[in-house]
Amino acid sequence: MSDQTTLLKNIKEAAEYIRGKYPEKPEISLILGSGLGVLADLVEGGVTIPYEDIPHFPVSTVEGHAGELLLGKVEGKHVLMMKGRFHMYEGYGVETVSFPVRVMKELGVEKLLVTNAAGGINTSYEVGDLMLIRDHINFTFRNPLIGPNHSDLGVRFPDMSEAYSRRLREAAKEVAAEQGLKLQEGVYLGLLGPSYETPAEIRMMRTLGGDAVGMSTVPEVLVARHAGIEVLGFSCISNMAAGILDQPLSHAEVMETTERAKPKFLKLVLGIISRI
Ligand code: 6GU
Repeated sequence: MSDQTTLLKNIKEAAEYIRGKYPEKPEISLILGSGLGVLADLVEGGVTIPYEDIPHFPVSTVEGHAGELLLGKVEGKHVLMMKGRFHMYEGYGVETVSFPVRVMKELGVEKLLVTNAAGGINTSYEVGDLMLIRDHINFTFRNPLIGPNHSDLGVRFPDMSEAYSRRLREAAKEVAAEQGLKLQEGVYLGLLGPSYETPAEIRMMRTLGGDAVGMSTVPEVLVARHAGIEVLGFSCISNMAAGILDQPLSHAEVMETTERAKPKFLKLVLGIISRI
């Protein structure tokens, strides 16, 4: 069997298993980053599926990332949430990291909301700010779409000129304004990690147009756009990137800040789900 045939078969088997547990079509998917898994608490009448139970699903390993899918209703809409995501720094390939998005498409998902914790590169940002992702720069130099293209999954050369939907971004800004919430908007720079950047790297990235830097999101968004899924993304600025403040970076700080940002993030996401 060719790799592509295996991929298609794996996608279908994973989707079939999930459908067996939750037959409704999820309209919106959420991929929740570090410490933001609490949004999952908002799901009503949901079913929880540990990743290890889903055929062909990888299992996440990093602290602070649970590994389960949650399907249920939020604001009257069927949603699918990934509580915990996969990162390339864990040793997974870019295809593995983005495999769940393939499965989402197979389940009929139309919109994807991604969140992450990111370091602030833009010096006008403050720790705890939320940033609407306007665009990204793929600094992983990996692409999950490399290899033979299966036309059932998407086109060979996907357009990325509106990776993050303008329509959804406008809706997000309206909701934030109604809630009196400060929302930055900027460019997310995605790297492999797991080490944080040096001050010299951060200066370079600022020059290149990055506003925030992180270790996720880009692979999932590439697959989503290939699949024709509309994307909306947010970064929680959990810390300033290296060299901006005179202090070392730590995962503990990332977790603390996202913990504090939870309530406003939660309210924003709820508002957006009900709006879109
Ligand atoms: Cl400063 N860099 C990267 N790559 N990821 C992060 C971060 C920084 N802060 C949170 N996540």
